[in-house]
Amino acid sequence: MTRKEQYEQLIPQIAGLIKGETNLVGILANVSAALHEAFPERFFWTGFYLYEGKETLSLGPFQGSVACYSIPYGKGVCGKAWEEGRTLIVPDVEKFSGHIACSSLSRSEIVVPMYDASHTFRGVLDIDSTYLNDFNEDDKEGLERIIELLMAETQNLFQ
Ligand code: SME
Repeated sequence: MTRKEQYEQLIPQIAGLIKGETNLVGILANVSAALHEAFPERFFWTGFYLYEGKETLSLGPFQGSVACYSIPYGKGVCGKAWEEGRTLIVPDVEKFSGHIACSSLSRSEIVVPMYDASHTFRGVLDIDSTYLNDFNEDDKEGLERIIELLMAETQNLFQ
């Protein structure tokens, strides 16, 4: 199965998983688990950093090893994606100036910023891979669609 086909299969599964649910932490935990399990060979850390009105993002639900609790605006790949308001793909984390290393196993990374329907920033989805240069446009498109449906379903659940 191609990567594109894997996302085609995964998107309705995630839609079903979160439909009608009202527990935000539970939803984010299940979405990170579903993504992590869908790509077990590649995804080493899969989770959320949330915007709670502060100048740093706070660690949210995730799958993988222990991670840092907060990431300042503009710092690391997550803070940069927040600052730039767009998905960032980092093919080699060692070549990204200011990368925040939570594990030496992480070699490449993708971060998708999350905005709700009123364009309010809610946080980021962060995925790390143990492979160099592991994320491509198919990942970007698939993950952005997942974040779009997540944001639509959780619109009223963020504080
Ligand atoms: N590498 C991220 C920090 C979070 S961990 O990867 C879980 C960054 O540079 O923003």
